[in-house]
Amino acid sequence: MSYTDKMLRDGALNDKVIVVTGGGSGLGKAMTKYFMELGAKVAITSRDLEKLQNTAKELEEQTGGKCLAVQCDVRHYEEVENMLKVVLEAFGKVDVLLNNAAGNFISPTERLSANAFDTVIDIVLKGSKNCTLAFGKHWIDIKQPSSVILNIVTTYAWTGSAYVVPSATAKAGVLAMTRSLAVEWAKYGIRSNAIAPGPFPTKGAWDRLLPGDLQEKFDLAQKVPLKRVGDHQELANIAAYLVSDFSAYVNGEVITIDGGEWLKGAGQFNLLEAIPEETWDMLEAMIKAKRNKE
Ligand code: COA
Repeated sequence: MSYTDKMLRDGALNDKVIVVTGGGSGLGKAMTKYFMELGAKVAITSRDLEKLQNTAKELEEQTGGKCLAVQCDVRHYEEVENMLKVVLEAFGKVDVLLNNAAGNFISPTERLSANAFDTVIDIVLKGSKNCTLAFGKHWIDIKQPSSVILNIVTTYAWTGSAYVVPSATAKAGVLAMTRSLAVEWAKYGIRSNAIAPGPFPTKGAWDRLLPGDLQEKFDLAQKVPLKRVGDHQELANIAAYLVSDFSAYVNGEVITIDGGEWLKGAGQFNLLEAIPEETWDMLEAMIKAKRNKE
């Protein structure tokens, strides 16, 4: 067994209908593919219909499953309502909302225009809110016995992060929404959970977040105690678990999958990792010698 293996048993998501926002590429596409392999019908949404249609066709060919491409800019509530309607018409129901669509770029905050800040907040926070509200109202209205909201956040949702302040601000809001609704909507059979991924390279995010030669200058694997970046299947495995009935008692949880990256930045003495073995030997000898004198 390896961490790149598929974790859940065949048919684990049979009969589930899942909506993945931003499912046309990157991590959204990787999760969609695995959901389809496990038997789910998946609707993928984004602004770019052509890209979505190509992805849907590719994934249907690869998995033999069903994938529906629905154009939707999550920033606009009426588009989200319409997307939900299209999914219901096509599949008859929806069980899971995966709020994965995001927007992000690096910049010193004082260089951002008000519109640039708003753009990220609108996609990440307002977009997740729009989908959550529309789907939640629908589920409550039809008294669906069990439904799932899964939000993709990030570890800097709780620490904050310099140079991606709109994203950090918005993701913190999504995290608060996840935990709040886990309690408030549990009575309607709606579970809310989140995943906080560390570095999982995708072309879209990497070109945006580490443009030019930054990818060579900053090897993010070196920031991770496990000294590697994440594999897409690892994330897909956790996502599949959290949307499946196997996690029926998991509610309001955030699963961090980052190889220990954020904690490495947090622990006060973690920087001592830079000390080589010989220096530890020397320090130990010094301490022992001092103790023997006392
Ligand atoms: N740095 C600073 N400001 C930026 C920027 C950057 N790299 N990219 C865009 N902006 C600003 C624009 O200048 C504009 O502000 P202005 O009108 O005051 O000039 C504002 O942000 C909106 O840009 P625009 O290109 O019109 O937005 P859009 O809605 O077409 O695209 C983005 C949204 C900018 C987030 C785009 O990168 C995107 O579509 N991303 C989706 C994928 C993604 O980011 N995924 C997350 C990967 S981690």
